[in-house]
Amino acid sequence: MASLTIRKLDDAVKTYLRLRSAKNRRSVEEEVRVILRELIEGREEPLTPFAVPPAAPTVGPTPQRTGAVPEASVTLIIGGGIAAYKSLDLIRRLKERRIEVRCVLTKAAQQFVTPLAVSALSHERVYSDLFDPQSEFDAGHIRLARECDMIVVAPATADLMAKMANGHADDLASAILLATNRKILLAPAMNPLMWNNAATRRNVAQLQRDGVVLIGPNSGEMAEAGEAGIGRMSEAIEIATAAERLLRPPVPRPLAGKRVLITAGPTHEPIDPVRYIANRSSGKQGFAIAAAAQAAGAEVILVSGPVGLDDPQGVTVKHVESARQMLEQVQAALPADIAIFAAAVADWRVANEGEQKLKKTSAGMPPLQLVENPDILATISKLTDKRPPLVIGFAAETEHLIDNAKAKIARKGCDWIVANDVSPATGVMGGDRNTVHLLTRDGGEISVDSWPVMTKEQVAVELIAHIAKAVANNTAKRETAT
Ligand code: CTP
Repeated sequence: MASLTIRKLDDAVKTYLRLRSAKNRRSVEEEVRVILRELIEGREEPLTPFAVPPAAPTVGPTPQRTGAVPEASVTLIIGGGIAAYKSLDLIRRLKERRIEVRCVLTKAAQQFVTPLAVSALSHERVYSDLFDPQSEFDAGHIRLARECDMIVVAPATADLMAKMANGHADDLASAILLATNRKILLAPAMNPLMWNNAATRRNVAQLQRDGVVLIGPNSGEMAEAGEAGIGRMSEAIEIATAAERLLRPPVPRPLAGKRVLITAGPTHEPIDPVRYIANRSSGKQGFAIAAAAQAAGAEVILVSGPVGLDDPQGVTVKHVESARQMLEQVQAALPADIAIFAAAVADWRVANEGEQKLKKTSAGMPPLQLVENPDILATISKLTDKRPPLVIGFAAETEHLIDNAKAKIARKGCDWIVANDVSPATGVMGGDRNTVHLLTRDGGEISVDSWPVMTKEQVAVELIAHIAKAVANNTAKRETAT
């Protein structure tokens, strides 16, 4: 029989096993046996550590499974203060945002909210004791500190903040805060005099220097009759929004508001209803550029020849066969802010295309008369009214790469050219990698930037980054001119 080395399993599986075995108070090996037994008996648990019910919860009901799969997890430390009641709402607000919550209650917090209420809302057992043999069986405070994406402290009392600023670890909450390498969000709550006290001011400044993020406190009425000022804990919804922003920072969208037109793939030029002239282009580079432009926030229209690729998400794709159809769709898609012509357009089409399938005859092979296709890149580059402000072509060459690309930029009238060597030995045509040189024209000057070999996705991301920079520079120039 083969043996299994737990140490060699991947990290996610090890984490799951560690957590599940600790909760069930079994060794990891025994837990694996149980899982396999459950699997054979057809009653296995879902593979998410947070959905595993504890064998013997110290407090609270058996965890319920929520329908939505959590996308992030937070350890919520509830400090001892009257604002602790708002933490119950905070648990709900975090869960609404598909954030799983495991709660730690300080001793003082238990004077304001019960572990039972917290457990019922979080659907998890509640942790409160640094020396709890059940959770410390597997270094529980380290797990609570690290097996989450972020730690939120709400309410963060003056005492808890003082402990944090000075590195104390004499209870579960402060030990977690000292042992974590995750982001920490504090929602302070205290009397205005405590907030303004020089000691608190020093501690807050120290915590901010340590990279801790604070939300609030707000100003308003205090629980103490007749007192008002800065010290009220932020509302649960404000804390949840701040936590979400830290967990999922907004993705930069440098091409937001820009319309990008891209051509990709080969074209097929019919000889007769069943035969055509084609080339080896796979469309991968153009499709990767479309996906990268969409991810950068652009509205993308992709005009593609026949390829075996799935349409990129969020991109409008126009499928065409021939060069003439591609030109038609490109013209219909204008105006655009940026146009990128990555298609390997057939230079010629058959002038005498057969209406019926050409038959073999004794007269020998049928003569194929070729006629030049419209040059889509040159046509669009030379437009006067609807020319996109940035027009980028590709140069597929098999020799004299840079010289041919320089000549092409001038002949076609585009602004930039992405030159690549498509000799069979490079494997570029149809392959996954590309070695490109970006030629940019500034007035009469052409500069060449040679990139190392990259995947086509990386080339796409790099090209979009260059475009975003150029767009930002142009916007800045326009703004200074006005
Ligand atoms: N291109 C185009 N329409 C054509 C031919 C090419 O839009 N009928 C575009 C390509 O999409 C590419 C650029 O022109 O952006 C250069 O294509 P390439 O095949 O390298 O060059 P050609 O113009 O075909 O010239 P040659 O075959 O002589 O190298």
